[in-house]
Amino acid sequence: MEKIIVEGGRKLSGTVRVNGAKNSAVALLPAAILADSTVTIEGLPDISDVDTLQSILQDIGAYIERPSEHEIKIDPSMIESIPLPNGKVKQLRASYYFMGAMLGKFKKAAIGLPGGCFLGPRPIDQHIKGFEALGAKIRNEKGALYLQADELVGARIYLDVVSVGATINIMLAAVKAKGQTIIENAAKEPEIIDVATLLTNMGAKIKGAGTDIIRIEGVEQLHGCLHTIIPDRIEAGTYAIIAAAQGTEVTIDNVIPEHLESLFSKMREMGVDIEHVDEQITIRPGEKLTAVNIKTLVHPGFPTDLQQPFTALLTKTEGMSIVTDTIYQARFKHIDELRRMNAKIKLEGNSAIVSGPSQLEGAQVKASDLRAGAALIVAGLMAEGRTEITGIDHIERGYENITDKLTKLGAKIYKEKMTDSEKKRMNVK
Ligand code: EPU
Repeated sequence: MEKIIVEGGRKLSGTVRVNGAKNSAVALLPAAILADSTVTIEGLPDISDVDTLQSILQDIGAYIERPSEHEIKIDPSMIESIPLPNGKVKQLRASYYFMGAMLGKFKKAAIGLPGGCFLGPRPIDQHIKGFEALGAKIRNEKGALYLQADELVGARIYLDVVSVGATINIMLAAVKAKGQTIIENAAKEPEIIDVATLLTNMGAKIKGAGTDIIRIEGVEQLHGCLHTIIPDRIEAGTYAIIAAAQGTEVTIDNVIPEHLESLFSKMREMGVDIEHVDEQITIRPGEKLTAVNIKTLVHPGFPTDLQQPFTALLTKTEGMSIVTDTIYQARFKHIDELRRMNAKIKLEGNSAIVSGPSQLEGAQVKASDLRAGAALIVAGLMAEGRTEITGIDHIERGYENITDKLTKLGAKIYKEKMTDSEKKRMNVK
């Protein structure tokens, strides 16, 4: 078990390269099982969530090759519909994509209800609504879902809540169903387009991904293909926030700027200069940053996954900011930790009210989830003195080599082994 140490206050400059999108990768890997031959995926992020999914794929019989840490070849021809009610599937949220993929491929699946970051209640009723509309019978037994269909038949499915996971899961189950499926009120995140692109390259017929109506014509067979993952907009956004917090001039490479318009608009409003040329953006923060309000919304609104790191940045701005998360109303576990570092933030309902500027001070803090961890890194880089962040397994689920990337930008950040007394305090071995 390790912790991350940040010795704050250093100015950052240089170029950082972003990896392939985690939230695409975690859907593309399960999606690959729908093919009959090898699917090659390039631009894979080297993160622990990918390792866990790779291991689940191997458990169900996929033959995997990793020519490099950023490429995977998945031969699904020997996969079986092995029940996965427990174990690794509980470690991450995205294991629920095996429900749609296995249902689509075998017309049956048994998958443990997913784990992942605790952000308050995270129901999957819309996934279930979609599977049932396609003809699946579903029972919930001892924390696992058992799905079975004699036949999957296309249907018109209206999502009562706009959900990334449900939209993708229904696409996975529907691509081989008989006839046409229409998903209405679908999520429009770039990761949905990426999954639809992979499935289309495999031979699926999907129209409208990226809009709120997706039309799928079922096909009988899907084949292998080569796919390159889109850049991770949340990783890019995190580095953009870090650059605004502590940079002089930082360039972020491998970004699709259109994916981050909501973040960039807010950063410009604060007084940050942002320039983009092709796939690179360069960030230069102004002398003084002003407070702004943000409200998280579905894409193309401000992404909930950047709310926590952005809140850390707001501690540096002049004035009062109101941060409202309409997607995950309890996604505020980072606030107590930021307060330990001298941030002036109070919680009112699903809003955090930040009064700034505050000079943050290094402290011992704990990452309760992935993006809370990113928020603590942002705070640690701005703080005076030494910040020790535990719970870094959360951070490593989604950020490849974050300590190395920040070191290259001039930060003093490294990992250290936890002491026995720290492990005991945190109840870990
Ligand atoms: N919701 C329902 N019913 C459902 C599904 C969702 O009520 O059946 C609600 C959720 O409770 C939430 C909202 O709908 O309030 C949106 O949830 P969504 O299904 O879109 O989230 P998700 O698919 O579970 C993905 C990302 C999250 C990201 C959200 C929102 C993956 C693996 N996870 O989760 O990413 O926050 O979309 O954009 O793609 C992260 O990367 O740190 C992360 C948590």
